[in-house]
Amino acid sequence: MSDTVIRMEKLCRFYAMGKEQVRALDTISLTFRRNEYVAIMGPSGSGKSTLMNIIGCLDTPSSGRYELNGKNVADMDDDELARIRNREIGFVFQTFNLLPRLNCIRNVELPLIYAGIGPEERSERALKVLDMVGLGDRVSHKPSELSGGQIQRVAIARALVNNPSLILADEPTGNLDTTTSGEIMGIFDDLSAAGNTIVLITHEEDIARHTRRIIRLRDGKVESDTGNRIS
Ligand SMILES: Nc1ncnc2c1ncn2[C@@H]1O[C@H](COP(=O)(O)OP(=O)(O)O)[C@@H](O)[C@H]1O
Ligand SMILES: [Mg+2]
Repeated sequence: MSDTVIRMEKLCRFYAMGKEQVRALDTISLTFRRNEYVAIMGPSGSGKSTLMNIIGCLDTPSSGRYELNGKNVADMDDDELARIRNREIGFVFQTFNLLPRLNCIRNVELPLIYAGIGPEERSERALKVLDMVGLGDRVSHKPSELSGGQIQRVAIARALVNNPSLILADEPTGNLDTTTSGEIMGIFDDLSAAGNTIVLITHEEDIARHTRRIIRLRDGKVESDTGNRIS
């Protein structure tokens, strides 16, 4: 199997704003290999969210190529895109996005329900990933009964449960205090060491420092792309 998870070639995303054209992403060429641990940084408006949406198959480029596991995403229909989002990408958001009425284990099982996996295997796999993020003793708690850091651990467990090709995290520590942010980044560090491919979007240098590669965007272009030797 190829070592390349993501390949972008001269990828552009333009928005039409009346007669103006906003070049949100302007000729981006990037490759992410298996087990890379990457931070995407850049000031507000530089294109981070637009890039995240394209990487996550929530949006498609205006021109250029975006390949996930060797397949051109532009060739996929909506069903295939939904399947890829569910199976290949584990999303972690700043706002956690758990369902408040469901306890931890049910929240984590959701992607497996969409994937058509039966109840026994579902709860077995959900318990295993909740254990991995240190929440094995909280599986019946609802989000309202947990701290912010614990909630984000549940969200990470949910992202992991389908064993995705890529974990994609948008400002995963944006709503957490410094200590809790450090704990959450410790989990990402462990997941990276265990062989996962992780792309995280952040505007905080302290968070980016955990990764091994930092890509900086400016005005929709890659300003720099460097191995991380800060830490
Ligand atoms: N739906 C949209 N319509 C028009 N312009 C947009 C839209 N989404 C983003 N943009 C513009 O694209 C550029 C990049 O935005 P965005 O990807 O959200 O940046 P960031 O996440 O780095 O703050 C900005 O100039 C923004 O105003
Ligand atoms: Mg943004």
